[in-house]
Amino acid sequence: MSAQIFPVPTEVASRALVDDAKYQEMYDRSVKDPDGFWGDHGKRIDWFKPYTKVKNVSYDPHNVSIKWYEDGTLNAAYNCIDRHLEKRGDQTAIIWEGDDPADDAKITYRDLHGHVCRLANVLKARGVKKGDRVCIYMPMIPEAAYAMLACARIGAVHSIVFGGFSPDALAGRIQDSDCVAVITSDEGLRGGKKVPLKANADEALANCPSVKTCVVVKRTGSAINWVDNRDIWYHEATEAASADCPCEEMNAEDPLFILYTSGSTGKPKGVLHTTGGYMVYASMTHEYVFDYHDGDVYWCTADVGWVTGHSYIVYGPLANGAISLMFEGVPSYPDASRFWQVCDKHQVNTFYTAPTAIRALMREGNAPVEKCKLDSLRLLGSVGEPINPEAWIWYYEVVGKKRCPIVDTWWQTETGGILITPLPGATALKPGSATRPFFGVQPEIVDGEGKVLDGATEGNLCISESWPGQMRTVYGDHERFVQTYFTTYPGKYFTGDGCRRDEDGYYWITGRVDDVINVSGHRMGTAEVESALVLHKDVAEAAVVGAPHDIKGQGIYAYVTLNVGVEPTDALKKELVQWVRHEIGPIASPDWLQWAPGLPKTRSGKIMRRILRKIAEDEFSNLGDTSTLADPGVVDNLIDQRQNRK
Ligand code: WTA
Repeated sequence: MSAQIFPVPTEVASRALVDDAKYQEMYDRSVKDPDGFWGDHGKRIDWFKPYTKVKNVSYDPHNVSIKWYEDGTLNAAYNCIDRHLEKRGDQTAIIWEGDDPADDAKITYRDLHGHVCRLANVLKARGVKKGDRVCIYMPMIPEAAYAMLACARIGAVHSIVFGGFSPDALAGRIQDSDCVAVITSDEGLRGGKKVPLKANADEALANCPSVKTCVVVKRTGSAINWVDNRDIWYHEATEAASADCPCEEMNAEDPLFILYTSGSTGKPKGVLHTTGGYMVYASMTHEYVFDYHDGDVYWCTADVGWVTGHSYIVYGPLANGAISLMFEGVPSYPDASRFWQVCDKHQVNTFYTAPTAIRALMREGNAPVEKCKLDSLRLLGSVGEPINPEAWIWYYEVVGKKRCPIVDTWWQTETGGILITPLPGATALKPGSATRPFFGVQPEIVDGEGKVLDGATEGNLCISESWPGQMRTVYGDHERFVQTYFTTYPGKYFTGDGCRRDEDGYYWITGRVDDVINVSGHRMGTAEVESALVLHKDVAEAAVVGAPHDIKGQGIYAYVTLNVGVEPTDALKKELVQWVRHEIGPIASPDWLQWAPGLPKTRSGKIMRRILRKIAEDEFSNLGDTSTLADPGVVDNLIDQRQNRK
């Protein structure tokens, strides 16, 4: 743990929206008088019918119910587009930077309005209406943002599936929420490589009878399969559609989107966010955490397939009338200087990325950064996993030239927006610490029994009160929502993360305490990878754990028991890795796969993952209590195999 402290630079403080005194004052009010605080800040959003109630929340495990601004009505697309037209219709809303450095575009708020209205009318003409679910399976092109906002405009609920997921994973998500339409493109383009999105969608849709429409954006122009009456070209349909589409009046608690995320058990959960509270929270955190001022060029490198892309490429920035940069490519293409070249090219002021990207680029040395000026940068951000102090210092010194604060923002798909973070003008920084709670957020650290621990301490991270951006339910399974988040520590929201609080009250996220692993900032359930492995004909059993990985933070370590009589060969190892890629997607590829003639189990048959984690970390001497194992010999065998890297 680093003890170094980086005070707020004077230049940053003089421009910032909030200094330390103001943070304290606002934070105190936000927890003492949540209704007053959020009642006032809710006005940052335009409401068709203003709310008269602010917060109505119960965390009682028998009756979990979360409502904010429940009698207000609004439209998210109106807030991201229409309300800006008068003052900044000709201002850029989205700067698009293509995979190829020669490809870019600027989309003004007025352009955005036209594109979104046309697509909204296309969806309407195909029978999509308020409350219907629409799946978006897209590369990082402006049409992905148009698709989100077109859904929001007509009150349809979007469910984005990351383009790196397989046809099976896509089909599962479409089926779970009974989507009526899919919006995709012929292919995606990342790092010069083509991603067969339409072909994947075709394979998925063979098992998704609820889908009546597939809108296809032409990105690469490659030949694709076509299903008449179901498939329509985006460019043809939108060209024929009217550029005027009124916004549906939505209740604050009407769903805005579903986003599937991995948990410790079972299949991915459809995290449901609603309209009013989410919009207030996404826009407010975007403004304060990134200290956003009019005209700033802001770049979040996430993909819209993840929550970071929802809240901090589209909804938060656009609600604030910001200039949001959207990047189609990858940090290493055409070379390791790409991020920095894009910063110079578009004069980026705020740059927000993930620790895994920083570590990968840090490995390339300083030269690719030093080729660029980077003098437009004022603020850096980090999200998705703990940032190790070494990477933090490199980011601060080499990229930020010791001028730019780093906001290390902790949050989750479930939280809708950032919960623990520095504010650039208010918070002295400690490398590796997400520092302090945002307004209205009340973190609590509890021990295994749920006892709240005071002062400097370490334990499980809970949040004791609701905030407007909180998820409302698991789509179609409220009981699972309650079970997952509100029963472990009754009366509190349990995050699934471990956390330390230091003597200054700073929070340090230590990583997941459940069976979720964080690979390059992407969440993966060990259970999902295990289910994929055991589907293979030669696999009897599998156990998956996270293990430290230099670049990815955590890598996927799989222990596999083969069926009797199957030969454990290197070829089979490769085949199994391919198998998982095919079942879930490349992001789920095991980094290590070890044969396990037996798995360590308790007498009741429960796999002791704690032991498997230690073996994967090469911590053989520190396995803890193994006396409850049904067959202790299994462990020696696994250690032996690990040491010999079989
Ligand atoms: C982890 C991403 C440490 C954490 C926004 C959390 C972090 C999970 C940080 C959520 C951070 C996210 N420091 N850990 N700044 N940000 N995490 O749902 O384990 O994809 O529970 O949301 O990522 O991942 P998700």
